[in-house]
Amino acid sequence: MQRVRACALLLAVLTAAAPAAAQPAQKIIFDTDFAFPPQDDAMALFFVLGSPELEVLGITTVAGNRSLNIANADVLKILEVTGRTTIPVYQGAAAPLMHQGSEWDTKRHGGWYANEPSREPPGGFAKTKTLESQGAVDYLVKTVMQQPGQVTILALGPLTNIAMAMRMEPRFAASVKQLVIMGGAIASLVDGGGNHTPNAEFNFYVDPEAAQVVLRSGIPIVLSPLNVSRKARFTKASYDKIVAADTPVTRLIRDNLGPGYKDRPDRIALMYDQVAAVTLVAPQLIKTVELYVDVDANPGPNYGVSVGAPQPWPGGEGARKMQVQTDLEWDKFIQLYIERVTRPQPAGK
Ligand code: BDR
Ligand code: CA
Repeated sequence: MQRVRACALLLAVLTAAAPAAAQPAQKIIFDTDFAFPPQDDAMALFFVLGSPELEVLGITTVAGNRSLNIANADVLKILEVTGRTTIPVYQGAAAPLMHQGSEWDTKRHGGWYANEPSREPPGGFAKTKTLESQGAVDYLVKTVMQQPGQVTILALGPLTNIAMAMRMEPRFAASVKQLVIMGGAIASLVDGGGNHTPNAEFNFYVDPEAAQVVLRSGIPIVLSPLNVSRKARFTKASYDKIVAADTPVTRLIRDNLGPGYKDRPDRIALMYDQVAAVTLVAPQLIKTVELYVDVDANPGPNYGVSVGAPQPWPGGEGARKMQVQTDLEWDKFIQLYIERVTRPQPAGK
């Protein structure tokens, strides 16, 4: 009996002393309406590239902030400059499922309706890095179906590619581990107005039909809406800390954000896509509530508007339960963000 106790004690001591087993990196697909910094998609990618907890299986592009051509050219160039050329890039949808841009859209933010050819990214087009021949939707389906329950999608643009993947493969939704989405605005919570139309957030507004299909899919979703983006305000103080380091990433930030701060040192940029990216590494820094959320895809004043509530409501039968971010621990959040974007990139990864 005594010997059994001694063995149990020894085992307890050894277990306590052993270093915690390293967690395997989370497999992610980075789905993005990419554009060069200061665009938030690029600023989110820098965080992801500096985070060893994440393994980027691939990047899929979609039209949104700019045309698909610009998204492709810019992301290829950034991967080349940062030395991360082994990450494959797959081109996705050049236009939303149904939504056609109006005159309003051409006057507001975003080039998704335009299909414009790419202009040269700063520093010229990527010299050797090219797009994969497979398209983004095929890639999403194949990758997720090969590893069911293992792949998280970080969706930072209109949800067109994800909705198309669901259409192509009916088992796709049930096979995705998790979706972290930057999109929507919840008017029933603080800071829930829209940023493109009075109540619609840009990503959901660009492709409301896709947003509705994806939110109703049953995939476990963390939604990062404008309510939380409005709590994440990037200022020159953070910029100065980043550019105090000298790496390919910080040089890109300096060259592309620096001129803006020279003109207006008090400018504030909301960290939309960065909040969603940080969620993958440090979810404990971001406050969430569980809500039923749906998207209005009826053309009219609420086209692309997301609606959320703690309980289903009459007419909201399509709403699904998801984690909705509302606030964050700013000091810890920005410290982590800065630490990751100033890290030297692992060579050739
Ligand atoms: C979202 O819309 C896009 O313009 C940004 O990149 C972000 O994903 C903010 O509404
Ligand atoms: Ca985006």
